[in-house]
Amino acid sequence: MILPIYAYGQPVLKKVAAHIGPEFEGLEQLIADMWETMYHADGVGLAAPQIGASIRLFVIDTEQLDKDEKDKKDKEPGFKKVFINAEMLDETGETWTYEEGCLSIPRIRGDVERPPVIRLRYLDEQFQPHEESFSGINARVIQHEYDHIQGVLFTERLKPLKKRLIQRKLEDIRQGKISMDYKLRFYSGR
Ligand code: NI
Repeated sequence: MILPIYAYGQPVLKKVAAHIGPEFEGLEQLIADMWETMYHADGVGLAAPQIGASIRLFVIDTEQLDKDEKDKKDKEPGFKKVFINAEMLDETGETWTYEEGCLSIPRIRGDVERPPVIRLRYLDEQFQPHEESFSGINARVIQHEYDHIQGVLFTERLKPLKKRLIQRKLEDIRQGKISMDYKLRFYSGR
């Protein structure tokens, strides 16, 4: 089932998400719905807070990006994975800039600096533990989704000038003054 994506301004996007255990009810269906929702919106990653669930779960498919790349040499191949209770162990290397976007913050993109190599501990959908290193675009997407379960949005990582430039657009999203070809859920709690 395609779920509505919670838009900028929703308090759930600013919460530190909770760990979950194998007893978490409906997890298999939730993961299936997140994949469907992500692909429907043409995303490469989706975190549970973006569908309103404040839990430490995100899904990523960077295999999609491999198709677009002209030069795949020296690049880590893409992957399709579920990450549960992820914990960032290390972020290393000289930071690099990449233009990020977010399904919860449509039509805004901006340069974010992040370290290129990460080491992550996480559980897969069978709750098997993994400790793994990622680099390049794979690391980048994980860092973005990991931020979501920490209650951080990429717009908070933009340079001060860029932040000011997008303020108006962000306010429009907060107020629901935007429509996309996927369903957004705006905050109406004020
Ligand atoms: Ni995002």
